[in-house]
Amino acid sequence: MRLSLLGLGVTLLLAPLLAHPAPALDPAPPELLKRGEYLARAADCAACHTAPGGRPFSGGLPLATPLGDVYASNITPDPRTGIGNYSYDDFARALREGVAKGGMHLYPAMPYTAYAKITDEDMQALYAYFLRGGVDAVAQANHDSDIPWPLNMRWPLALWNLAFHEDQTYQANPKQSEAWNRGAYLVQGPAHCGTCHTPRGLAFQEKALDEKDSDFLAGAALGGWYAFNITADTHSGIGGWSDAELVQYLKTGRVAGKAQAAGPMAEAVQHSFQYLSDADLQAMATYLRSVKAVSDGERKARFAWGEPADEVVSLRGQDFDPQTRDDGARLFLGNCASCHAWSGDGVKDGYYPMLSHNTTVGAQQPDNLVQVVLNGVKRKTGEQEVFMPGFAGSLDDQQIATLVNYLTNQFGNPAVKVDSARVAAIRQP
Ligand code: HEC
Ligand code: HEC
Ligand code: HEC
Repeated sequence: MRLSLLGLGVTLLLAPLLAHPAPALDPAPPELLKRGEYLARAADCAACHTAPGGRPFSGGLPLATPLGDVYASNITPDPRTGIGNYSYDDFARALREGVAKGGMHLYPAMPYTAYAKITDEDMQALYAYFLRGGVDAVAQANHDSDIPWPLNMRWPLALWNLAFHEDQTYQANPKQSEAWNRGAYLVQGPAHCGTCHTPRGLAFQEKALDEKDSDFLAGAALGGWYAFNITADTHSGIGGWSDAELVQYLKTGRVAGKAQAAGPMAEAVQHSFQYLSDADLQAMATYLRSVKAVSDGERKARFAWGEPADEVVSLRGQDFDPQTRDDGARLFLGNCASCHAWSGDGVKDGYYPMLSHNTTVGAQQPDNLVQVVLNGVKRKTGEQEVFMPGFAGSLDDQQIATLVNYLTNQFGNPAVKVDSARVAAIRQP
């Protein structure tokens, strides 16, 4: 967070006084607002445009790019600081072409490359939601990017768009079913799965925008996390998941004996996917199965690794030091076993998950496991709340490396190792 505390405090104090009434556009009919709200959720506009503790859609959240932080704008209908003066065409242009009212090119941290696929009908519903009665106006000035001059000049973004951006709404594939097309539309367009799961090239461009290309959804590093390969490959992707498991994961973030969502995926599930209809989630699962399989050379699926620990049973009842530096089993017993059990099998009907048969522990990239140990897990769907505390404050880099190497060896893929330098890099991005 780069916001000055004073500035933040003043903004928070003044925010209620500065709120403007929505401008004089006709309020939209309730069904249209409802549809717009559903789409805004599916597209997770709030993920970037609502800062933690901030008013909905009033902006301010910093997003890391290779050149420096970029701040999401105020997209409430406030005419001065928000998008209250946007016509429908201005709005559609910002979402599809990445050009704000007045002609300023937006950084592709705003996923217009995916939103370009949004149909006119859905775009109208989104416009109605944001400008005709779904969102309260909030006066909050936008924050300039931290990208230094001359890199902050925006005209090169026009060239970037020429090279990498395809401004075309979703074109249905007549050879596929209605459900497949619905799933493809959601995955490629509003739900923008590729923003996180598709690898990016040197110019920050997603290497593929649909299933016809073999980089699409093939897995990508994401600010110290790894958004897994979710192509149809049986070992490296999600080919070994059933449709029902995919739907359950998107709806709740957990599939016992397989995977739990943490970090950015937990946020996407909590703020977006849990609200999608079962039919839409099922349609996405149908489509994902047809995404060209990409193998990363794994011999086994991420979720297929691991055995319950038995050697630790011999340590039961002994005195041991949970702050040891070089003994992974003891670190596990001292810090993790109280919830995940001595065996690592978890307890309480899966509330505390098994650590074997767990994609985070069985993955080829140990980053997410390091993140989970550092920062824990927090996720709320419906009435269900899951919480695992983080250990960033109680375990140092060497201890976490030792522990993670124990976990991958015991419960995951034994070939995967981390050292303390990697843990330090993930701790301090
Ligand atoms: C992954 C993050 C992210 C998501 C998701 C996202 N945006 Fe943005 N958006 C941004 C960023 C960052 C900017 C500012 C970019 C810049 O300064 O160049 C922005 C800018 C905008 C602008 C330009 C406003 C202006 O005049 O400055 C509009 C309009 C907008 N977003 C609407 C939306 C809508 C509607 C959604 C959901 C359908 C959405 N955004 C989802 C990150 C995001
Ligand atoms: C904001 C970034 C982001 C977005 C958007 C996103 N994901 Fe993810 N996804 C991740 C990360 C990071 C993980 C790894 C989570 C973990 O290890 O707990 C993940 C994990 C998954 C997994 C579990 C894979 C496994 O083997 O454990 C599935 C399935 C998945 N995502 C599907 C999707 C689909 C489908 C969409 C779009 C509807 C989507 N994701 C959108 C970041 C994202
Ligand atoms: C206070 C109880 C508690 C403790 C202590 C605890 N966990 Fe967890 N752990 C949880 C809960 C709850 C979840 C989330 C389950 C879910 O997502 O549905 C979880 C999830 C996980 C996951 C799966 C995350 C993912 O993204 O797939 C891993 C791996 C994990 N814990 C490892 C550990 C390790 C290693 C330790 C010790 C350093 C530890 N846990 C300590 C409660 C705990």
